[in-house]
Amino acid sequence: MGCCHHYFEPTEGGDLAFSVDVSSVTFGRGCLAEAGEVARALGIRRIALMTDKVLRGLDFFETVERALATAGIDTVVYDEVRVEPTDVSFQDAAAFARESKVDGFLSLGGGSVIDTAKAANLYASHPADFLTYVNAPIGAGQPVPGPLRPHIACPTTSGTGSECTGIAVFDLLAMKAKTGIVSRELRPQRALIDPDVTASLPANVVAASGFDVLSHALESYTARPYTQRRAPANASQRPMSQGANPWSDLGCREALRLLGAYFPRAVADAGDREAREQVMWAATLAGIAFGNAGCHAPHGMAYSVAGLVKDYQPAGYPDDAPLIPHGMSVIVNAPSVFRVTAPACPDRHLEASGLLGANGRGAGETDAGEVLGGRIVDLMKETGMPNGLSGVGYGEADLAALTEGAYPQRRLLENAPLDITRDGLTALYRDALAYW
Ligand SMILES: NC(=O)c1ccc[n+]([C@@H]2O[C@H](COP(=O)([O-])OP(=O)(O)OC[C@H]3O[C@@H](n4cnc5c(N)ncnc54)[C@H](O)[C@@H]3O)[C@@H](O)[C@H]2O)c1
Ligand SMILES: [Fe+2]
Repeated sequence: MGCCHHYFEPTEGGDLAFSVDVSSVTFGRGCLAEAGEVARALGIRRIALMTDKVLRGLDFFETVERALATAGIDTVVYDEVRVEPTDVSFQDAAAFARESKVDGFLSLGGGSVIDTAKAANLYASHPADFLTYVNAPIGAGQPVPGPLRPHIACPTTSGTGSECTGIAVFDLLAMKAKTGIVSRELRPQRALIDPDVTASLPANVVAASGFDVLSHALESYTARPYTQRRAPANASQRPMSQGANPWSDLGCREALRLLGAYFPRAVADAGDREAREQVMWAATLAGIAFGNAGCHAPHGMAYSVAGLVKDYQPAGYPDDAPLIPHGMSVIVNAPSVFRVTAPACPDRHLEASGLLGANGRGAGETDAGEVLGGRIVDLMKETGMPNGLSGVGYGEADLAALTEGAYPQRRLLENAPLDITRDGLTALYRDALAYW
């Protein structure tokens, strides 16, 4: 682990400090029953309970509704959240939030629900044209002017970590592009994480959202170190995507170790409570880590993989429109990227592959990219993921459009441990077309 000493070596003009921002987290079986007390302690009197149509029919929705009622909180339910939300679905939720005059939010769902609640809260608290707060260059990238209303996030996938981040992601339909809103103000005040909810997750959702977790941890661990980012002019300008740092390293390593031990079991068997709980904890740790370090190329590339979807329809997801689930759109790029980024910090790539359970016996630093890429590919095969970009409907003819869509994702691409040119990005997509 020599890397951990020299990886954060100060550089000329580079930042000398890193910040730690986290939501207040409660984790454990049955903790959803605490939702009412938590809302009351935050001073909420009338709450928007946001979810999607599938989840509204499940037992844990009733648990939360009952807990809020018992605490005397007036509850208005919104179950119109779209899986993989869009600008249109975000604005519909924001209109609901404004009209229903709530003073707090509880999101019960996967990243799609939590991100929708963040956006509804933002536009209800600080009304503005939709593109005002959306990341530049697609939106105006204006800072959020102040705090939002309290938001209690309750994740139901072992997934995104959105309950601990200040990010909301959506698809801008007119441009066929994914983008997002990023601000510390978007981070929910409280996260209630109850691993019992994972029992009803379809295997394919555990697999796709688990690869999202895996890539959050790998990307944050191999991100450019915070000491190589230019020092901000003042403290308030230090970005949340500040680069790899000693705090995010802690969560990344443990998340990778847990995934190496439990991820395939959690996908294979809905009854394996231990494995599903441990993957849920890995998701929380990786969310805290990437919320403070930032992802890089696999996520940057995923924006156009998801945005340009043709006719792909995965099992376990709603079948009303083609979609490439977020974690799948990320992991199809990952082996290609890590094979290329390994020379920038080979010891980190090797260590990560070991935590994920690779047999790297005898492997040296020059093998790091191959060992890590190979381990990810083995896990993809074992959990039924598509075979790279060709597995979700793309071919050689799509490489230019994929590159065009991802190249503007500067926040993510510049967080990679080496520079990525436009031609380099096309080459990464080409190498991601098929892995076996
Ligand atoms: N804000 C962030 O920091 C962040 C990070 C990563 C991803 N995301 C975003 O999150 C979204 C993906 O979220 P996700 O992967 O959590 O999935 P999701 O919210 O899209 O849900 C996937 C499917 O699983 C179902 N489901 C969820 N929980 C269930 C349960 N316990 N039992 C049965 N079915 C259940 C949902 O109804 C849906 O059909 C994407 O839009 C992605 O861009 C956000
Ligand atoms: Fe993600």
